[in-house]
Amino acid sequence: MKIAAIADLHCGKYTVKQIRGIFSDIEGKADVLVMAGDLTNVGLVHEIEILLEALNSVSLPKVAVLGNHDHQNDEAVQLTKILEAGNVCVLDCSSCVIEGVGFLGTKGFCGGFGNLRIQPFGEQAIKKFVETSVDEAVRLDSALKQIDAVHKIAITHYAPIRATLKGESPELFPFLGSSLLADALDRHHVNVIFHGHAHNGSPSGTTPGGIPVHNVSRFVQKRVHNRDYMIYEV
Ligand SMILES: [Fe+2]
Ligand SMILES: [Fe+2]
Repeated sequence: MKIAAIADLHCGKYTVKQIRGIFSDIEGKADVLVMAGDLTNVGLVHEIEILLEALNSVSLPKVAVLGNHDHQNDEAVQLTKILEAGNVCVLDCSSCVIEGVGFLGTKGFCGGFGNLRIQPFGEQAIKKFVETSVDEAVRLDSALKQIDAVHKIAITHYAPIRATLKGESPELFPFLGSSLLADALDRHHVNVIFHGHAHNGSPSGTTPGGIPVHNVSRFVQKRVHNRDYMIYEV
């Protein structure tokens, strides 16, 4: 199976014509399309409709997670419904199986990496922030336990490791991902992890457990590989 993986479409900031151009040659190159969040620019219904219109001519199975931008207008539930009505499988600490290959994913959250992760100490606001990060990892862990597939493809929006953030300002790193995501994915031996969010980051790295991680933000892919998406074969 060939998987085309892309993130950070930011529909609304970009037009149907521009987004359609990105997908124009994808049909012959892949069997499944994975979209790792920031499908819209500010999470509006008309922006998700731009994406679906641009995807009209793409008949591949489609799997997506939402990104932080898709939450901007508190319409994530509505956007998910519209995507699912448009035959896009939206993962939120959940999974789906396509031709025997398991796809599991979630948006994820921030909080930092390793020993420097923000800790749940002091103010309630800090504790709430950390709780959100931990909850995403715990729910992802539960989804991983339930998936019944030999090959497992993981999708997050936020980064699970630091390495794929290289190129972003170091001050931003704690807000771009969380190593709790990598910890959960390492425990369940997924084949590969795709994420987005870090537009200025680096294309690849590995988790502490050795899982390949690819930052498929289309801005990174374009800058490094001169194409908008990555093709991964499993
Ligand atoms: Fe983005
Ligand atoms: Fe993002």
